[in-house]
Amino acid sequence: MAVLPVLTWGDPRLKKNSEDVGAWTPELEQLVADLFETSLHEEGVGLAAPQVGVNLNLAVIDCSCGEDPEQKLVLINPEITKEEGSQVGPEGCLSIPGIREVLERPQKVTLRNRTRDGAWEEQIGEDLKARAFCHEIDHLRGRLFVEYFGPVKRQILQKKYLKQARG
Ligand code: NI
Repeated sequence: MAVLPVLTWGDPRLKKNSEDVGAWTPELEQLVADLFETSLHEEGVGLAAPQVGVNLNLAVIDCSCGEDPEQKLVLINPEITKEEGSQVGPEGCLSIPGIREVLERPQKVTLRNRTRDGAWEEQIGEDLKARAFCHEIDHLRGRLFVEYFGPVKRQILQKKYLKQARG
């Protein structure tokens, strides 16, 4: 396993649409292991393949931050099929270190997700997990969470982010 470099806000590769994962391979298994390792290292609850420069519809989620192996979840070609309720809370992104902002998301999200062997399964997330589903799937569509804000707020956040990034 390896900690991979994570692309940051402003990198054009984060804005690309991703392609569906095809047949499962040992290379993909390695990528999944590396995504978990990188997410854990950065104390995140999830990481999407495009964030490490791989434009595939693949992401990992672990809302326990490494505490509970049962909570490790691999999203493969996921699609949201149902959104219910709403939650308002802080959100951050490993590609935008140092920035956390309040964002409204659905309280409960149902996904159609592929398994490694090519079958389809349903995944349901509530609260933090629902937020992670939305956040990671946005990455697969080339969208960062800060893009939900208007241009003025986005500019303020970008200044704050750049200032921090420079140290
Ligand atoms: Ni993110």
